[in-house]
Amino acid sequence: MQNVYDYLNEKITDGSVIGMGSGSTIENYIPAVGRHVEENRMDVTFVPTSIKTEQLLKDHGLTTSLKVSEIEVTIDGADYFTRTLNVIKGLGGALLREKQIGYFSENITIIAKSDKETASFENLRIPVEVNPFLHELTKTQIRRLTRAEITERTEGGSLSTTDNGNYTLDCRLPAIADLDALHNMLINIPGVIETGIFNRHITEIVSFSDGDFKVHIK
Ligand code: A5P
Repeated sequence: MQNVYDYLNEKITDGSVIGMGSGSTIENYIPAVGRHVEENRMDVTFVPTSIKTEQLLKDHGLTTSLKVSEIEVTIDGADYFTRTLNVIKGLGGALLREKQIGYFSENITIIAKSDKETASFENLRIPVEVNPFLHELTKTQIRRLTRAEITERTEGGSLSTTDNGNYTLDCRLPAIADLDALHNMLINIPGVIETGIFNRHITEIVSFSDGDFKVHIK
């Protein structure tokens, strides 16, 4: 039987430009990407979604670049997903670059453990990246509009910053009537840089467990 890495590697072909996501699932996959590219002597360019991913790609002999004109497919992880191809990302703090690279990709393949599947994102952590300037007011406005319970992400006692120098607010909403509307409401608050709601143009979600995997498409 084909394993999940072989399935993903089929998307990485000679001459292709591939967006590569962040997080432990992707970090575990990158060595298999390195072997695939080397064994097949391919010329592939990878667009990394974080400084950590960039370093890991280089450590495995892979070529990275941010100066590309198109991206065929981005392979990325997820924190939670639904069968209807909605995804929450950003627990690893890379959501802005992940969203930018995903936006400019023809296809997005999400790989996630099957236990990350959920029917709804209510009461789950939805990360929101915010500008440090007036971030307290931004937080207050998010709470006012969404009734979210909000935790500021910290590291070693101080607010942690993303690769882009921003802060992350983890928001738990008691009710979500419409995910698109929620994203639009949040992104329209000055100071909100991006949300962890990925609900557009995801091509497929590959969920895996115990050596088995399943592909969810629309
Ligand atoms: C990074 O900001 C995230 O969006 C990750 O892609 C996501 O958190 C999945 O991470 P794990 O593979 O570590 O669960």
